[in-house]
Amino acid sequence: MKNLTILGIESSCDDTSAAVLRDNLMLSNVLANQEVHQKYGGVIPELASRAHQQNIIPVVHRALDLAKVKVKEIDVIAFTRGPGLLGSLLVGTSFSKGLALATGADLVEVNHLQGHILSHFIDEPEIRRPHPSFPFLCLLVSGGHTQIVLVKNYLEYEILGETIDDAAGEAFDKCAKRMNLPYPGGPVIDKLAKEGNPDAFHFAKPRVEGLDYSFSGLKTSFLYFLRDRIAENPLFIEDRKADLCASLQRTIIDVLMSNLVKAVKQTGIFEIAIAGGVSANSGLRKRIYEEGVTRGWKTYIPEFRFTTDNAAMIAITGYYRYLGGFRSSLDVAPVARM
Ligand code: KG4
Ligand code: ZN
Repeated sequence: MKNLTILGIESSCDDTSAAVLRDNLMLSNVLANQEVHQKYGGVIPELASRAHQQNIIPVVHRALDLAKVKVKEIDVIAFTRGPGLLGSLLVGTSFSKGLALATGADLVEVNHLQGHILSHFIDEPEIRRPHPSFPFLCLLVSGGHTQIVLVKNYLEYEILGETIDDAAGEAFDKCAKRMNLPYPGGPVIDKLAKEGNPDAFHFAKPRVEGLDYSFSGLKTSFLYFLRDRIAENPLFIEDRKADLCASLQRTIIDVLMSNLVKAVKQTGIFEIAIAGGVSANSGLRKRIYEEGVTRGWKTYIPEFRFTTDNAAMIAITGYYRYLGGFRSSLDVAPVARM
């Protein structure tokens, strides 16, 4: 079979991204961040879709240029159908449909979460990475989702546990906001935590049945804790910022890890991957690695550029779905929840 040239398009939240793959080899992966949201302390959907409209064509041009690929050489257009912000998804979906119609390329819709997981299978012309073998467990931790996924093959997944309220990334972001830190809070907390003591403070850990997660209680306990301490010392946050970040981060990691350990015991699977924006967290990466060494797991920790939203992960997922026979029709519409 001839090599396939895949254009990936990602626009589910606040990153506009386009990538070109030749089969599973990444030739380019271009990303435009939207700084407009920072001053609001969170993503404003209306502003996000407008920025996608402005960014999408230049980003795709750049991805094609870097890959040295012409529009007419694209065989498959893989785009994020959901989950995400509807107005944002509409931009990538409509663009992909228009381009498919104009070029005759095949269209393949992708679930954004599958994309995060399959980012572990991206190679580059000069870089071959170790890939997890099936079946493996993936701790998928992002701004919108927290799941333990049993990955049976490229196309079959089973969710073993997931959050019943907030996602881990949301816990980072919301607690960061309470400390007057900029959005997104996860990377800022990560940085400050390096200077702090993770044992300085203790926050309530949720008790949830089975392999599910809950982070809303932790967020509330953090907020009440701050309120009480600020009443005693108005400068409490300023005085103890690093310790607060380190302790909060430690708690979130403990919660994430305890169910992952349970999932390994239940399934007997020792191939363990992490994915999603929160997998950029240095504390979590270190902890997964260390637990892996202690418990005999084979761990897969993504490169930083594949942790947060990017189109290369959408393109690789589109590639495997295309090989599996999936095609989308031109009347496909985005979905906020999948
Ligand atoms: O996967 P992602 O880019 O977007 C979604 O699909 O949600 O994840 C974004 C989330 C945000 O909540 C952000 O705070 C978090 O990932 N994040 C981090 C770090 N980098 C990004 N959380 C903790 N530590 C980090 N270093
Ligand atoms: Zn994501």
